[in-house]
Amino acid sequence: MKVLIPWWLKIIAKIVLSRVPVDYSFWQNLGLFRHGYMDDSDYVVKVFNMHVFRAGLEGKLQGKTILELGPGDSVATVIVAACFGAKSILIDAGPFAKSGLDDYHKLVVYLEQNGLNPPDILASATLDDILAVCNAQYLTGGLESFASIQDNTVDFIFSQAVLEHVRKSEFFDTVSECSRVLSSDGIASHRVDLKDHLGGGANNLRISSKHWEADWMSSSGFYTNRIRFKEMLTIFKKAGFNVDVSCKDEWKDAPIARKSLAKEFRGIDDDDLLVSGFDVLLKPVDSFKIET
Ligand SMILES: C[S@@+](CC[C@H](N)C(=O)[O-])C[C@H]1O[C@@H](n2cnc3c(N)ncnc32)[C@H](O)[C@@H]1O
Repeated sequence: MKVLIPWWLKIIAKIVLSRVPVDYSFWQNLGLFRHGYMDDSDYVVKVFNMHVFRAGLEGKLQGKTILELGPGDSVATVIVAACFGAKSILIDAGPFAKSGLDDYHKLVVYLEQNGLNPPDILASATLDDILAVCNAQYLTGGLESFASIQDNTVDFIFSQAVLEHVRKSEFFDTVSECSRVLSSDGIASHRVDLKDHLGGGANNLRISSKHWEADWMSSSGFYTNRIRFKEMLTIFKKAGFNVDVSCKDEWKDAPIARKSLAKEFRGIDDDDLLVSGFDVLLKPVDSFKIET
């Protein structure tokens, strides 16, 4: 039987648990705090193929540079990208990728079973060895990591359930950095999940930014920046992108009563409030790049 835990109890429990002095890997192994599912072979390949397909890059990855934002618990993308002759740069906000190599060995078998030719990682003893074999970088300084990437050098950027986790104060700069490093004929594909991470509703909109953005709250494993659909599209445009929303998911009914929203969210349009997630393709607006 599934026990329904109320959103506010989840917040309290996560604030308390995230303060227990154990490594992230402890929670990762228990499955209590995780950064996504990229340690699952089937998931990583599906996510990779889906973004490549949306971006129209099937069969065109040879020699390309791919940037994945927020890979989470695994650097598996570097192995998948290498199968297609692409090199990759992974940027996350911390070193969350598992250091054990079992999942990578399983991935290689999975890729071979699916007719691909993954790089030989059998001699690799560490994550760094795998990165070297795959001609890849794993940068874990979040926004700061972009500083080591030159302008116009990335062909394809993708992220899966990441943009909503970028701290609100860093969101515009992060999207602008994506715009700076993306080549003028490059493309980005993002899947954004706008549901709260407290059960899939919109209960995160009840709390004022003063509390929500405080470090003690935002570091407790359920942070999302609460930037709504229309505002995110405006930020993408402001950062120099042409925006193409390929899919928009909506709740059937308002996910929360307007009177329960924190004051700062009460002015959101009904149709904006209904958006629970979306897929978006971003291409550089050339004139913007020339101006800046
Ligand atoms: C829900 S997890 C998704 C992980 C993975 N993409 C997946 O689909 O399994 C969100 C990820 O975004 C990362 N993230 C948060 N802020 C970030 C930032 N400023 N730059 C890069 N990654 C960030 C988190 O550390 C985490 O790995």
